[in-house]
This record gives sequence, structure tokens and C-alpha cells, in this order.
Amino acid sequence: MSHTATRKILVTSALPYANGDIHLGHLLEYIQTDIWVRFQKSRGQQCYYVCADDAHGTAIMLRAEQEGISSEALIERVSRAHQADFARFGVNFDNYHSTHSTENRYFSELIYTRLRDKGHIATRDIEQMFDPQKGLFLADRFIKGTCPKCNAEDQYGDNCEKCGATYTPAELIDPVSAISGATPEVRSSTHYFFKLPDFAEFMQQWINDGHVQPQIRNKLMEWFESGFNEWDISRDAPYFGFEIPDAPGKYFYVWLDAPIGYLASFKNLCERECIDFDSFWQPGSDAEVYHFIGKDIVYFHALFWPAMLHGADFRTPTAVNCHGFVTVDGAKMSKSRGTFIKAATYADYLNPEYLRYYFAAKLTSKVDDLDLNLDDFTARVNSDLVGKVINIASRCAGFVKKLGGGTLSSSCADPQMLARFIAAGDDIAADYEAREFSRAMRSIMELADEANTYIAEAEPWVLAKQDGREQEVLDICSMGINLFRQLMVYLAPVVPTMAAEAQAFLNLATLDWHSRHEVLTNHTINKFKPLMTRIERDKIDAMIEASKEDLVEEQKLKDATKGPLTDEPVAAEINFDDFMKVDLRIARIAKAQYVEGADKLLQLTLDLGGETRNVFSGIRASYAPEALEGRLTVMVANLAPRKMRFGVSEGMVLASANDDGIYLLSPDAGAEPGQRVT
Ligand code: MSP
Ligand code: ZN
Repeated sequence: MSHTATRKILVTSALPYANGDIHLGHLLEYIQTDIWVRFQKSRGQQCYYVCADDAHGTAIMLRAEQEGISSEALIERVSRAHQADFARFGVNFDNYHSTHSTENRYFSELIYTRLRDKGHIATRDIEQMFDPQKGLFLADRFIKGTCPKCNAEDQYGDNCEKCGATYTPAELIDPVSAISGATPEVRSSTHYFFKLPDFAEFMQQWINDGHVQPQIRNKLMEWFESGFNEWDISRDAPYFGFEIPDAPGKYFYVWLDAPIGYLASFKNLCERECIDFDSFWQPGSDAEVYHFIGKDIVYFHALFWPAMLHGADFRTPTAVNCHGFVTVDGAKMSKSRGTFIKAATYADYLNPEYLRYYFAAKLTSKVDDLDLNLDDFTARVNSDLVGKVINIASRCAGFVKKLGGGTLSSSCADPQMLARFIAAGDDIAADYEAREFSRAMRSIMELADEANTYIAEAEPWVLAKQDGREQEVLDICSMGINLFRQLMVYLAPVVPTMAAEAQAFLNLATLDWHSRHEVLTNHTINKFKPLMTRIERDKIDAMIEASKEDLVEEQKLKDATKGPLTDEPVAAEINFDDFMKVDLRIARIAKAQYVEGADKLLQLTLDLGGETRNVFSGIRASYAPEALEGRLTVMVANLAPRKMRFGVSEGMVLASANDDGIYLLSPDAGAEPGQRVT
């Protein structure tokens, strides 16, 4: 039994934007948080983990418009996709909600009106760029133009990617709206501000009170020294969000209601499971509240959010736990290199628990970036999880089956060693608690090394060949199984699926932290099945290829929504020889079929008059396979073969696309398969 009272803990991860897919960068955060939560639950704490989609804002509104669906339909679809991704990675929320919810509207209005009634809201007219064609005020990133410093064209409204200059959108030469292409006008409108300076002293105190990591504290102190302003919390219609009470046509800025989404999601859980919401959120509450976030959103969580809560008579978070950014092979995730890897793409190729382990093996309580080095990833997972941990069970299970009929010895072969393994759980727990997962993993692997050494030195496979030593062999292997069980208790928060299988193998009711004190003697275990296989490098390569493919699909979607080609500048001039390098041929579609798992592709077998080619083409939206069979088209015959998720594509058929469909090219009657097109 635990000696201290159960802690009440509420944990959150940042709310992902509802207009994009979950990728490996995001996953660092959700995996880090999930491990910590699973650890707390394993220790018997009353711990809840909530999250939600961050559903409001201009970007989501525009994306929905571009897809020709309502914002509500978009956020509904994305929410389902996000939750499916999280489930595949074992991220086990107690509740997943949305900021576009009744609870969130309620708390946003409540917090806003409390702040307003205490005089912490100001209104002021500000001038801003306005898109007259769209009838929309434009945030800086929605304005493009020529850099006033270096004259580079097509630069965003706040800074130049070419020369690095920063400026205001008004300084751009020939500014245009990135949404409609119209020339923006300067217009004035009334905005609502949260008077942050009212909370200067409070915030300064708060960040010095141990609620943030030292590196974050230092960064925030710099911010204080440079002085700060009131925070603009309103946006003008049209805006996808909540209208501000008593301010028709004015909406809460997405970052005002986003963190309030933590309250909303928790409230939604409390209603469902009869949990006392107020006991977590009233001032002076004895519950603990933790927000896990990335380093890019620190200001919102470590300054504005505590100030809002404090000003509106809620308790403030126990801590904001900040992590760094994921890089892949030492560089920022890159779409063209295929290292911008979506969660779903990863999970199509590799076991999600490999990644959970690798992140755990590298995570500390600090804010440093974390590199996913793909070679190191392979080596680490194979050597630690497969080579060390699983190896213990697989070496021992057979003998227990054969010599004990599946039942472990009645006594422990080395009680001292086992006691050391059990005692090690206290330090490992302290490391988990402090988010020093890397140190915890190192300790666990040292124990795994010891266990392997124990078995290697005892050589049960040698003894098993000698007469009358069966009991000894069974004792050694029972000891090995007990050591393995200790390791699985310690690893369970990191690799829950593997742990569940180990638990079934060990025939145990639980792998909770405390359960490890009970030594397994005279205990019957089940048949051993390999708990995890080694990572194969070709799976990683295929995942990288598929990620490049994801980019191609995205580009096609963008192109398809661009409208007629006349809008798009003609590509750079080429000469005749360049043109002749492209070998275009008439092809007959001999066979067309759906590709399982690819909602945009058809697999085509093309007849080039003797030779056949296998081509994957993104034309499924407009063509039924049977309608294509027998028909002629034009293909690029000398395109380098491309390895795709579903096979190798040996060329490309020619088609154009617009909002209404895809249009495959075909020659006039009389053309023959294999003929060159010039
Ligand atoms: N919607 C806001 C958060 C609102 S919280 C009230 C947001 N969404 S996000 O989808 O862009 O990011 C969600 C979380 O993932 C953030 O904590 C962010 O820091 C984290 N990450 C996004 N890309 C990341 C990496 N490449 N690496 C590590 N974490 C990253 O911000
Ligand atoms: Zn410039």
C-alpha cells in the first residue's frame, strides 16, 4: 500500500490546431505527457489527462472555405483524424474535446466578463490592413509583397526570407492579400485588449516561484526587461470563433479561448464522470495542474494564461512543463527530404512503441531540442528493447514451460538480486516524476544488462543438458522471469502495448508500480510470444519515401484548387533539346484497379505496344477503374521509377485538374500504343 495520500493531478498537452495532421514533432509532446500520466496512474494517483482540438481562427476558416466545406465539418473531420492518430500511438486521454464547444463558450465568456468587470479590459481603435475583395482584416502573414530593403518579391508581411529584414506590412512595396490577390487598404476598427500590465507584478512573481524551468524563467525575464503591452484579444468578423459578449461583430482571438479549452475539456470530463471540477480549479485547491507545451508557445502559457486565471479568480497551474523541438537526422523536419513525417505515415510502417521508447530514452526535463537520428533510433530500439529486455524472457520462458510445466519455482534463486531490482524502482520513480525519462531508461537498461549477465553466467542451456539439474535450470529461469517482470513494471508507462502483452504472458492482474513487491513463486505463466520485432532499415526508407509522396499529394490538392492555369505564371523557358528529353508515348490502359489504403490513387497497367508499365496515378477522384480499361492516354515513359508506399511507379500519365475534377489526356482516334508524342 502507498504510504502517502493519493494526489489529485490534472494534466494537459497543448491543443493541436484543427487544420493540419499530427506529425512526429507533435508526438514528442503527446508521448512525453502520456508517459508521465501513465506513470502517475501506475503509482495510484488520481490523475486525469485532457486535451482538445484548437478549432478557431482565420486559418481554419480559410482552409474550410478552400475545401468548400463548413468550418464545423472541417474541425469534425480533423478531430476524428487526430484522435485516430493519438490512439495508434497509445496516447490515452481521459477526454478529448474541442474549443468549439458549449463548455468553452461558457468559460470564455465567464473569464472575459470577470476580467472586464474588474477593469482589466480596454478598447482602442487600431489601423490594420483590410482585404476589400474578401471583406476581411488581414493578419501580417496573409499579406505578401516586395521587401522594402532588398526588393525580393513575394515576401510575407512581417519579415523577408531573403535578407532577414523585419518591417510592418504597410512598408511592403506593392502589398497584396495572400488570400485574394487584391491590394489591401488600411482600415480602422475597435479592438479589445487584456491589460497585461495590470498583472506585471503578479506574473514576475509567478515565474520566479518555481512554476517554470530555469531556462524558461530566464527567457521570460528578458521579456520583462524589454517591457510589454496590452494584449489584443479581439478579431473582427468574419471569424470562426466565439462572439464577445456585448460586442457584436467582435470575436475572441483564437489564443484567448484556446487555453480556456483546458478547462472546457476537463469540465466535460467532470460532468461525465462526476468529478468535482471546482476542487481542481478554485483558488487554494490542493490539486495539481500541469501543462505540457512546446517552447514556441511559452508566453501564452507562462504569462498570459496565469494572469487570465488569476484575474478571473481561478487557481493558476502548478507548473508549465516545456519541451524543445524535434529535428530529424540533425535538421529541421523537411517536406522535400521526406523527414516531415506524419503520425499516420509513420504508423503505417513502424511500431509506434519504437518511437515512444526512443523519445523516452532522449527526453530530459530541459527545453533542448531532440534529434530523431534514424540510425541511432534503429540501433537503440533493437539493442535495448529487443536485444536486452525481451531477450531475458525469451531465454527463460522455454525452460519454465518444459521443466516446470509453465509454473515458476517455489523459491527465488537470488533474493538479494531481486530485492535490488525492486528497490531500484524508487530511484526510477523519482526520475519519471522529475521528467528525467532518459535517466530512467538508462537505469532500466542497466538492470536489463545485469539480468542478462546473470543468465549468461548461470548458463541454463548448458545445465539443461546435464542429468539431474532440472530444478537448478528452472530456478535460474524463474529468477530471470522475475527480473523481466520488474523491468516491465518500469517500462510499462513507455511501451504500454508491449507491457500489456508481457502482462498476459506473465499471467498477472496488473503491472502497477506497487505490484512489483510481490515475488512470483509457484506462479503459472503463459506461452511466450515475441513481444516486439527488430526495426528494419528498409521500413524506415519506405516511410521516408511515403512522406515525400504525402508532399506530392498535398501539392496536387493545392494545384487543384488554384483554378485555371492562366492564373499561374508559365514555367521558365526551356530549349528544344530539353523538351526532347521528355519521352512521351501513347499508352493503352490495359488494366486499372483500386489501391487498398490509398483514397486518391489508381493502379494502372499501361501497354506501350509490347512493353507494359505499372503506374500509380492520383486520378481516382474522377475515374472508375472499369471506365478506363481499353482507353488510350499519354504517358511520360522515361521518368525515373519512384518507389511508393504501394509499389514502384514506372512513369506518369498526363492529366490536368481543377475544382470540379481531373482530366486525363487522350489522343485522337488512330494513335497506337508505343508511338512517341512530340
Ligand atoms: N494550437 C496551439 C496550442 C494551443 S494550447 C492552448 C498550437 N498547436 S500546434 O498544433 O501548432 O502545436 C501543438 C503542440 O505541438 C505545441 O506544444 C507545439 O510546441 C508542439 N509542436 C509542434 N511542432 C513541434 C516539433 N517539431 N517538435 C516538438 N514539438 C512541436 O501551437
Ligand atoms: Zn529583403
